[in-house]
Parts: sequence; structure tokens; C-alpha cells
Amino acid sequence: MSESERTASRTAVLVCQGRAAADGRFAADRFGDPVAVRLLRAAERTAVDEVRAGTPPQGWQARTAYESVRACAEVVVPRTVAIDDALRAGVSGQLVILGAGLDTRAWRLSALAATDVWEVDHPASQQDKRARLAEAAPEATARSVRFVPVDFATDDLGAALDAASHDPALPTTWLWEGVVPYLTRDQIHATLSALTARTAPGSTLVVNYQSPSARAAAGRLLTRLLGNAITAGEPWRSLWTPAQMATLLAEHGLRVTSDTSLLTLAETLGSPTRGRTSLKSGRVAVAEGG
Ligand SMILES: C[S@@+](CC[C@H](N)C(=O)[O-])C[C@H]1O[C@@H](n2cnc3c(N)ncnc32)[C@H](O)[C@@H]1O
Repeated sequence: MSESERTASRTAVLVCQGRAAADGRFAADRFGDPVAVRLLRAAERTAVDEVRAGTPPQGWQARTAYESVRACAEVVVPRTVAIDDALRAGVSGQLVILGAGLDTRAWRLSALAATDVWEVDHPASQQDKRARLAEAAPEATARSVRFVPVDFATDDLGAALDAASHDPALPTTWLWEGVVPYLTRDQIHATLSALTARTAPGSTLVVNYQSPSARAAAGRLLTRLLGNAITAGEPWRSLWTPAQMATLLAEHGLRVTSDTSLLTLAETLGSPTRGRTSLKSGRVAVAEGG
């Protein structure tokens, strides 16, 4: 299957399951995503309910699904809180979410009441999300939400945003969560070039990325060998140390102002840290541009 023919992202569903499982359970005073569960199909809620109840199922396949959702819940809590806090601290009138997946911010964050949101994603993933939204019918908390289908491997992001009435002359907050590892270095450079050409003074980029870790790579290989079809279908293509990420962003006119590991964030929140290795290699950086 070529990139353009592929089906909707399964990792986007997994992180949504993680948020649904953690809602009201992990760091409940700081994390919440009541919309996530509404975007899930009945079959996808089974593992979520089991994780919430703390009752691992019998059987290899069900147990693999359970462990994937449980581990994902640990990761999404610190990353969601860090990103939500960054948006609350100063989101601009335009928010572009790159590789939005089943992101729920436009339907749950009151901080977006004066913000227009552009959700950019692979056409197959976006079509799937729009079908889920049509069924769940959550009410938007953002001023507006526009959907922009883009394959970062083949499409022109700038042209697509032009066609969707994004204004490059106004400040933009760019959000890039859980997408960088799935892109090649060339795709990342192309995306950043399109982005910085539309980054007016006062703009910000919030990026979640993975730093290299031999233990995390071994763990991911093991889960693939054990038959985790979710991660097998969407391999990681690029990992960045914090120094490499700062250099990459600087090449595109963006200056990093903070960069924190998910483990540090989770420890501050008091959320679970059983998967210390994967938490340690996940990071959220904020950069200023324009
Ligand atoms: C792990 S999901 C993260 C979704 C969302 N940002 C979140 O954190 O919940 C990865 C997302 O990247 C998108 N993605 C991966 N490769 C892409 C590509 N070549 N073009 C457009 N989107 C892509 C997928 O469609 C999916 O929505």
C-alpha cells in the first residue's frame, strides 16, 4: 500500500483511547478529556473500560490491546497537560493542528473561544474523524473549526492552508503532537518550510517529539514482534535529541523557549510512570518564531 492509499491512522485511535482511559483517573486535577470517549466506536471502548476498571482481560489479543491503551494513557496525560497549558498561556487567534488525528481540543478547551482552528491531517484519517464527529456531535468550544486534508509526504501544506483561508500575516499557534516520529526528515523539513513561510511575528510552535532511546526502540520492536498491529502499521521514521530539535527549529527561524521530557512532567503531575523508558524519550518543546 502506498502512502496515499493508506487507511485511517490506528495510532490516532490508540492515543484517543489513552485519553479516554485516563480521563478522571490519572492526574484528575490537571488532566481531563471527556470528549475522547465520545469519538470511539463501541469495540474501541472495551479496552478503555477495562483500563479504567483496572481489570486486565484474559486472552492474548485482548491483553495486548489492554496493555497498549494502559501504556498510552500514561504517555498522553503529561503531553496533553503540557500542550493545554501552553495554549492557555497564550494561544493566538489562529491555531493550526498538524496531524490532528482525534484531537479534541477544539471541542473541549474554552481557551479557544476566540481562536479559529485548522485541523490538518492525512485525508484518510480526517475522513474517519469527520464520520466520528458526525455521530458524536460534540459542540465546538473553538470559534471555528476547518478541516484541511493534507498528506505531508506528497501535498503542498502552504497551498492547502491558503485554500482554507488561513492568514499568513496574522500570528499562528502551530501544534504538532505525536506526528514527528512518523515523518521522514525530508517531510519534516518540508513541513517546517511551509510553516515558517506563514509564521508572522508573535507565532508559536508547540511540538511533541521522540528522542532516541535504545531501550524504547527495543520495547517497540518487542511489541511489534508480539503482534501489536497498531505500531507495526505506522513505523517511527525520525527521532531527535533536544539539541538536534533546537538546531532543526533554528534552521527554520524558530527559537526553543522550553523543552521538557514527559517523565519530568508526569512526576510533577503525580501521574503514573510505570513506563519510565517511553516517558523519558517523549518530549514537548515550545518555540517562538516570526
Ligand atoms: C499518533 S497520531 C497523533 C494524532 C494527534 N496529534 C494526537 O496526538 O492525538 C499520528 C497522526 O499523524 C498523522 N500523519 C502521519 N503521517 C502523516 C502524513 N504523511 N500526512 C498527514 N498526516 C500524517 C496521522 O494521520 C495521525 O492523525
